[in-house]
Amino acid sequence: MSANGTKIQIELKGVSKAYGGVIANKDISLQVPEGKITGLIGPNGSGKTTLFNSIVGYHPIDEGSIAFEGREISTLRVPEIARLGMLRTFQQTRIYKKMNCVENMVISISHRGGGGLAGVFKSAKDAATVERAEHLLEFVGLYSKRKLISGELSFGQQKLLEFAMALMNQPKVLLLDEPTAGINPTLINGLIDRLKRANEEFGVTLFVIEHNMRVIMNLAEKISCLAHGELLATGTPEDIQNDRRVIDAYLGAH
Ligand SMILES: Nc1ncnc2c1ncn2[C@@H]1O[C@H](COP(=O)(O)OP(=O)(O)O)[C@@H](O)[C@H]1O
Ligand SMILES: [Mg+2]
Repeated sequence: MSANGTKIQIELKGVSKAYGGVIANKDISLQVPEGKITGLIGPNGSGKTTLFNSIVGYHPIDEGSIAFEGREISTLRVPEIARLGMLRTFQQTRIYKKMNCVENMVISISHRGGGGLAGVFKSAKDAATVERAEHLLEFVGLYSKRKLISGELSFGQQKLLEFAMALMNQPKVLLLDEPTAGINPTLINGLIDRLKRANEEFGVTLFVIEHNMRVIMNLAEKISCLAHGELLATGTPEDIQNDRRVIDAYLGAH
């Protein structure tokens, strides 16, 4: 519990990760409060994606600890952490481009439930699953495209689909890696709105890496900034925009 009564859901202490000689994250300590939207910014190569990969168990960390709801998870791998309710999306979308939107939604949960292809076909016949898929497609504004082959959607729509696929698993926490990258400005506003609504209506905690400063300042309650693998500052959007180190390392170039 923090001073203002907000529960800490994810807590990193002294997290370091190197790839061979490249130190991607060095001694990072930060907290993600439950039920809020938290931002992560920093120049290209500053270690943002690496930190997300460490949190979701994609690779082991070299030093430090990562706690999720008070439980140490740094020794767990992706499927175990997903089962605890923490999922991520990628800079590049990972959808099944030859399947339609509803099928993508159904397969996104079958993957977690196991059962292979047989499981997919079973879920596809499960009316409740299909209904939930359609409801979430409506939530992200893709209902009219639900039977369309997803490879035919625009890049922005594919990102919305990916977001809906993640929600299909009813995660407690979603880590979003540059959700607005490559999306046109009109769709960006829609996406921000959907992220906020998912946070408010489903209570899902969001931890968001974002390059678009307008987006992250508008979205996040608290933001951390990395540079050269190290944590420069954490604060409110206003604190961050006025932080000399953040301006020098990052915002000055924006
Ligand atoms: N799989 C990898 N193997 C080797 N080096 C990597 C790998 N992934 C990232 N790096 C390096 O780690 C540093 C941080 O990268 P990354 O976490 O992707 O930064 P960001 O997401 O902030 O752009 C960079 O120097 C990058 O080249
Ligand atoms: Mg990255």
